[in-house]
Amino acid sequence: MPYEISDKKREWYRHVAEKSRMRKVAAINGELACVVRPENKPKLYPEALMPLLPKNGFRALSLFSGGGGLDLGFERAGFEHVASYDVLDVCQRTLQRNRPAWKVFGGVEGDVSRQDWSSYRDSIDVVHGGPPCQPFSVAGKQQGAQDSRDMWPSFTKAVKALLPSVFVAENVPGLGEPKFADYVEKMISEPLSKDYHMTRFLLCASDFGVPQARKRLFFIGCRSEKIFRRFRLPQPTHSFERDLLCFLPRTMGVREALGLEDLGWDALAPTLRSGFTGPRKSTSILNSKASQRVWDRLQIWPNGVQKNRTIAGQFPPENEHFRLSVQDCAILQGFPEDWHFDGAVYQVLGQIGNSVCPPVSYAIAKVVLELLGG
Ligand SMILES: C[S@@+](CC[C@H](N)C(=O)[O-])C[C@H]1O[C@@H](n2cnc3c(N)ncnc32)[C@H](O)[C@@H]1O
Repeated sequence: MPYEISDKKREWYRHVAEKSRMRKVAAINGELACVVRPENKPKLYPEALMPLLPKNGFRALSLFSGGGGLDLGFERAGFEHVASYDVLDVCQRTLQRNRPAWKVFGGVEGDVSRQDWSSYRDSIDVVHGGPPCQPFSVAGKQQGAQDSRDMWPSFTKAVKALLPSVFVAENVPGLGEPKFADYVEKMISEPLSKDYHMTRFLLCASDFGVPQARKRLFFIGCRSEKIFRRFRLPQPTHSFERDLLCFLPRTMGVREALGLEDLGWDALAPTLRSGFTGPRKSTSILNSKASQRVWDRLQIWPNGVQKNRTIAGQFPPENEHFRLSVQDCAILQGFPEDWHFDGAVYQVLGQIGNSVCPPVSYAIAKVVLELLGG
């Protein structure tokens, strides 16, 4: 999609990027009068939010795998992946690097719209996937079926070809809005309802210990009505809001999760934006003007994310707020530190911002496991 951005705005972005680059060079050469900050030691261990379950013998196929959020949650819940597909080579490299033994397809071979699924017939228990959300997100202009990136038809086609016992699909909350009711009816319910009993629901990442305000819409379908009757919504395991009746463990705020100094105030991180969308190859995670105010209060700088904590510490922003690294952003999305993302910073942020938070995916995978009788 061509970016709609004026020459003036482009020039301004160029100017800011150049100024920032010069500042970074000066910082690395020790020419900047600023205090080098020691590396932060996060207090949140996302792997502890998804204790590894024994292998359950059920086989999953991952479509639109991205940086692996759904894949990781399902794996930690004991599912085996038969194969994972994403059209972007960088996503294929990420998954293959973390899981060398997996069958991961990228580029044309990973294009879900071009596959003939017959070779997997009768060998898949669960198909899971997050078709691109841009057709339904505000940032993507909400063009729905008119958007060439709409991949729901390819998702439903794969499910119909494979007829797994259960499918799980994920998208932005926007898809649940009344303006897309016809879309959901025509493009999701109609094609699948002959073979599946379906439900949909919203989940908040912070209800599963992730220190971020992030909602996502999920669809679950079951082949058999008997299995579908066992369906129960994933129950929150954590809570950020504390009230007297809440006995759930506390979801950390963003400063605590990243191991930053206590300001006497903390909050959930605003929704991390996907770096793949927007007018440029952005290294910012800023999602909206309102979220800028939250980051300001948190004294965290949401722009110019760096590739590691050492560089982020050497190169404080002018207002001396905390500069983020990609590892910090991954933690705020619920990825364990040892999950490596391939690519340039903007591509890593794209994979992180596009992903289902793995602890949320894990909660869903556990529900699927119960449905399957595991
Ligand atoms: C919302 S992201 C999925 C995130 C993933 N579920 C996770 O949890 O990390 C959508 C992905 O669909 C991929 N994609 C877009 N068009 C595709 C196509 N035709 N075939 C395969 N993947 C595609 C994008 O590259 C992107 O990684």
